[in-house]
Amino acid sequence: MKLAPSILAADFTQMPLVIKLVETAKCEYLHFDVMDGNFVPNLTFGPPFIALVRRLTAIPFDVHLMVQHPGQYVEELAQVGVQILSFHVEAEAYSPRLFRHIQDLGMQASVALNPQTSLTAIEELLPHLDNVLVMTVDPGFYGQDFISTMFRKVEKLHAYREDHELMFTIEVDGGVTEENVTTLQSLGVDTVVAGKSFFGAPDPVKFAARVHGSRRRFHA
Ligand code: DX5
Ligand code: ZN
Repeated sequence: MKLAPSILAADFTQMPLVIKLVETAKCEYLHFDVMDGNFVPNLTFGPPFIALVRRLTAIPFDVHLMVQHPGQYVEELAQVGVQILSFHVEAEAYSPRLFRHIQDLGMQASVALNPQTSLTAIEELLPHLDNVLVMTVDPGFYGQDFISTMFRKVEKLHAYREDHELMFTIEVDGGVTEENVTTLQSLGVDTVVAGKSFFGAPDPVKFAARVHGSRRRFHA
């Protein structure tokens, strides 16, 4: 399975070291949680911070917009050099227009779903999406507990993808741990985001190796 450490859980005073760690751990992506204090009850950072981090690394950026008007930031983020861009379906009335715009700007378009939002809310969008970000905690903070009923949601999404022979990847975000990562891999998840369990691990490189190892077992 692929791993996207969430920078929100990192030490912001030590960015060059944080980046070195993520690179040493051979993580496929770096996850950025952009929060506007409006769509979610927390305020983080915006495109200028992401642009600063871009100067430190070439690792693909996975940006998760938890904002009320996601369309506002898309062009700036394309210029920064973002690979996957997620916005919340709950925040956007015209999702198809927005994800086509994201794709036209050369990024992968991803829709994020709150735990309470059913998969039926995005069913018609799935053939056109590059990635689905399944929130497994209520968005807003790192370090929360995984909501166990989300296993079933991920399983359903995976079954839908198989049945309809679709190409989107499945990414899980929130409360991922060494304990639940094996289950997530067996349910067909392609990428996990990890904040606390990566940056708070006694040895983040070992944690990453376990996540990556679960991919090898899956395909064996
Ligand atoms: C929550 C964020 C998550 C969070 C993940 O709103 O979208 O990306 O940073 O952190 P953990 O893995 O600690 O739940
Ligand atoms: Zn996130």
